Amino acid sequence: MKKNQSIVIGNWKMNPQTLVEAKRIVTKTKTVARTLEHTLVVACPPFPFVSLVASKRNSGASGNRVHAGVQNAFFEEQGAYTGEVSTHMLADIGVEYVIVGHSERRARGETDVEVSKKVAAVTQSGMTAVLCVGETVRDAQGAYLNTLREQIKASLQAFPKRQLSQLIIAYEPVWAIGAKEAMTPVLVREMVIFVKKVISDTYGQEEALAVPVLYGGSVNFRNAADIMTEGHVDGFLVGRESVNVPGFIELIKVVDAVSAKK
Ligand code: 13P
Repeated sequence: MKKNQSIVIGNWKMNPQTLVEAKRIVTKTKTVARTLEHTLVVACPPFPFVSLVASKRNSGASGNRVHAGVQNAFFEEQGAYTGEVSTHMLADIGVEYVIVGHSERRARGETDVEVSKKVAAVTQSGMTAVLCVGETVRDAQGAYLNTLREQIKASLQAFPKRQLSQLIIAYEPVWAIGAKEAMTPVLVREMVIFVKKVISDTYGQEEALAVPVLYGGSVNFRNAADIMTEGHVDGFLVGRESVNVPGFIELIKVVDAVSAKK
């Protein structure tokens, strides 16, 4: 990732409820995204709306548009897996990013082993895995750091160094998701350093520094600039604000302005 480039990924979760509204969000976001020079914007809508952003023709082209992502994919290649979607299908329609291991999926039973298989499947299909990690609670003794280290290592079990360029880490402390306030920029900075250290211990320092680390958890256009500058993040994974058009547009503009000065 270039020095003055940032990534903002919108995780729409299970929103909005109609195709008309999804189209409105995509159209308005595109209008602004195409004017930004330092920010790569990705939208991860629910599966029924993915075709609004996914296009085979555009896939791989950089900048000036909204890139296509999804919120999950299955690790098996094909076959009798009712309700699942394969990484091959997604790559085939032009999806470039897949969120893997979001805490809302882990809370419903997704294990580190499954997450690691998904990271492998996504990258082997040529897409980028947006691996979500984060502690559930912060204890005064700092045990959460060990938990986080183990979660990162287990989620990247057997993940090869040569595919690191297809990996983004989204650090999302679970307690800050859907909350009133985001984590403070100072704490974000500490945690970004910690995540990079864990990656560096496994893959080497130079490689670790090249893996983008995003922050997620109650990010909005008001707190984005401070978290970016003081938190030293490479961008954001955004929930609620990503489907709130005026807020998201303001957010990506703020990120672009800060990135331009990086
Ligand atoms: P909020 O931005 O709504 O807190 O959600 C964060 C998140 O879970 C993004 O993946």
